[in-house]
Amino acid sequence: MTSTRELTPLDRFLTDTQRALDTVFGAPAAVRANPSADIAQIELDDNERRHAAGLMRVNHVGEVCAQALYCGQAAVARDAATRAHLLEAAQEEADHLAWCADRLRELDSRPSLLNPLWYAGSFAIGAVAGLRGDGWNLGFVVETERQVEAHIDEHLESLPAADARSRAILEVMKADEARHADNAEAAGARVLPPPVPSLMAAASKLMKTVAYRL
Ligand SMILES: [Fe+2]
Ligand SMILES: [Fe+2]
Repeated sequence: MTSTRELTPLDRFLTDTQRALDTVFGAPAAVRANPSADIAQIELDDNERRHAAGLMRVNHVGEVCAQALYCGQAAVARDAATRAHLLEAAQEEADHLAWCADRLRELDSRPSLLNPLWYAGSFAIGAVAGLRGDGWNLGFVVETERQVEAHIDEHLESLPAADARSRAILEVMKADEARHADNAEAAGARVLPPPVPSLMAAASKLMKTVAYRL
């Protein structure tokens, strides 16, 4: 359903809050089918299952952070086209979020207990980045997506050989993240100056280390 009515700041605040609660505590539904749906479930031993669950929890947190970053950036975006661009990417990230949650359940595991914290921190970072202007906003998307693409590659290497279902999900996510970065580049992203990319990499390394366990 679309509305031509301009959203008021209160509308936007309520939408943002609803989205945050859905992401952290709810189970957002995917629009697209889960890429692992047709792939046979192969029994993993305990160590393999634990490792796969740790990696998929990291990926799930990554998607929680993506939702929060994009919503934080969209909340302060000056240009309606940039805002639409951010919210459109966030919709695809919602598919990723749902697929990772499905896989965590199949692996008898759970999302990170710290998701409220990851969400709040990422929303704040997104809003700060967004306040620098729309070129920065898009530059931030490019850098985030490229870093996520690189860590998905690491996970594809590290997943147990038998875990074809996690791998199928990550392959589609990787292709989507690459497209998000390309789209943001085409929409006029500026290249982020040092030390921003390395600070982002350090923050995501910390997140990955903690989320693998918690
Ligand atoms: Fe994603
Ligand atoms: Fe993405």
